[in-house]
Amino acid sequence: MYRIESKLNIHSPEYLANAEAYGHIMQQYRNTLFGVVNGSPASLVNRHKERGKLLARERIDQLIDPGTPFLELSTMAAYGMYDNGFPSAGIITGIGLIHGREAMIVANDATVKGGTYVAETIKKHVRAQEIAMENHLPCVYLVDSGGVFLPEQANVFPDKYDFGRFFFNQARMSAVGIPQISVVMGSCTAGGAYVPAMSDEVIIVRNQGTIFIGGPPLVKAATGEEVSAEELGGAEVHTSISGVADHIAENDSHALQICRDIFSTLRKPEKQFLELVPIEEPYYNPAELYGIAPVDLRKPVDAHEIIARIVDGSRFHEFKARYAPTIVTGFAHIMGMPVGIMASNGVLFSETALKGAHFIELCTSRNVPILFLQNITGFIVGKEYERRGIARDGAKLVHAVANARVPKFTVVFGGSFGAGNYAMAGRAYEPRLLFMWPNSKISVMGGEQAAGVLITVKEDQLKAKGLKISNSERDELKSSILKKYEEEGSAYFSTARLWDDGIIDPVDTRKILAMGIAASMNKHWEETKFGVFRM
Ligand code: COA
Repeated sequence: MYRIESKLNIHSPEYLANAEAYGHIMQQYRNTLFGVVNGSPASLVNRHKERGKLLARERIDQLIDPGTPFLELSTMAAYGMYDNGFPSAGIITGIGLIHGREAMIVANDATVKGGTYVAETIKKHVRAQEIAMENHLPCVYLVDSGGVFLPEQANVFPDKYDFGRFFFNQARMSAVGIPQISVVMGSCTAGGAYVPAMSDEVIIVRNQGTIFIGGPPLVKAATGEEVSAEELGGAEVHTSISGVADHIAENDSHALQICRDIFSTLRKPEKQFLELVPIEEPYYNPAELYGIAPVDLRKPVDAHEIIARIVDGSRFHEFKARYAPTIVTGFAHIMGMPVGIMASNGVLFSETALKGAHFIELCTSRNVPILFLQNITGFIVGKEYERRGIARDGAKLVHAVANARVPKFTVVFGGSFGAGNYAMAGRAYEPRLLFMWPNSKISVMGGEQAAGVLITVKEDQLKAKGLKISNSERDELKSSILKKYEEEGSAYFSTARLWDDGIIDPVDTRKILAMGIAASMNKHWEETKFGVFRM
């Protein structure tokens, strides 16, 4: 496979200016991340530790194999919401290795409002389970939660993908042989009691973990019975009387060790076969991505330069290099694993869509995962293109992306706008994982375009009444739309609402994708069947 010939000049003023501007973006990203990870008040963190408990991320560190990475997902969920009172939405989720086996870990953070659930906490928990189902990953729930955050009950309790979905998912996963293990390290009240109750195997920590359908205050109110939490649903009760839990642990570390021991008894998954090759680091330095990633989205970026800093040896077997160049397609390896890459390199035209659909067919017929690198303003507009059937050709690409059953992975490295988002495997197209770079933006269209559309609509409305929009009204409308799109289009706004699986440092892209592809091999991939392509 040939090495990409980079045309980048790292001494050019353009590169240096971009790298400097990106430095500020990375500074903001690191500061925000630090603020979120350390977002619980010191008093609550200290109270938690004084109770002899480990913090949620410390628990995960002890659970996974020493020296192995943990792919934490959606760290900045609920960022900028609830007065920043729910850092990481009060729950830590991610993929880690336990006894050499990839697992999905879901850990409540009891220092965030008693580990209770608001809408984003629910979304994060359900998303973690969805990833586990798609990739056949055993689930470990490190439970320490007061259940629903009661003032928000209307947003978390009744709907299809709300609190009740956790237990539905556990039952479904258990039924298809995806192990469900709970470690009860704190409270587990009301509906929350079903997390361990629906698990295959349960560990509970002595004098610390409790499981009950109704806590002591509720019991007193309902029946007048006075009972302590320990007597009602502590570790002694559940491991020796009720049998709701299976193993008693003396403390957090002991409980985590028992969980690791359970993993040593699990059946090994039948892995998806992939032709692996020896791993090679990229020939070009991934840190140069800071000088390439678009700070100003109007500036075109040569996708080859991005690919060259992500794939093994910067080697890329390009498909149709000379045809429809606004999309770059080809095969490469990431950490020795084969991958088909489809990268935005400009606006989508009819021929671009056809090239993309053809390439998806190659990937599905060869059973190779697909990486979508998004920097897309959308499909081309205008009379000429509509007459040539851009909608029909775009639909072919969207159809191919939707039906491709090999694992898809999406990284937004620039813009993600309009139908381009769909054609390049946006969230609705079920990529196994979707990440954003901190500079990236996502919205139905750019702010300028949206302002232009809305001003034209307003002008037409007024014209029908024989009126005209004043200059000040036009300016006001434009600036309010621009401000709204700027705020709502940011990667931080997206990640807070779980539209993605997290904002990542561009330099980590390769490593993170490798973990995602490796995780996807825990299950045989389904066969792809396409439907009717409009010709
Ligand atoms: N809804 C809303 N807020 C809750 C809550 C709930 N279910 N459970 C706890 N909180 C809040 C507390 O009001 C407190 O908020 P504050 O810091 O603003 O004062 C914060 O979470 C921490 O609670 P606290 O009781 O001080 O912590 P703790 O570690 O001693 O106890 C619990 C944690 C979860 C064991 C305890 O708060 C509790 O039993 N909560 C009720 C659980 C329940 O009945 N849930 C049913 C819902 S399905």
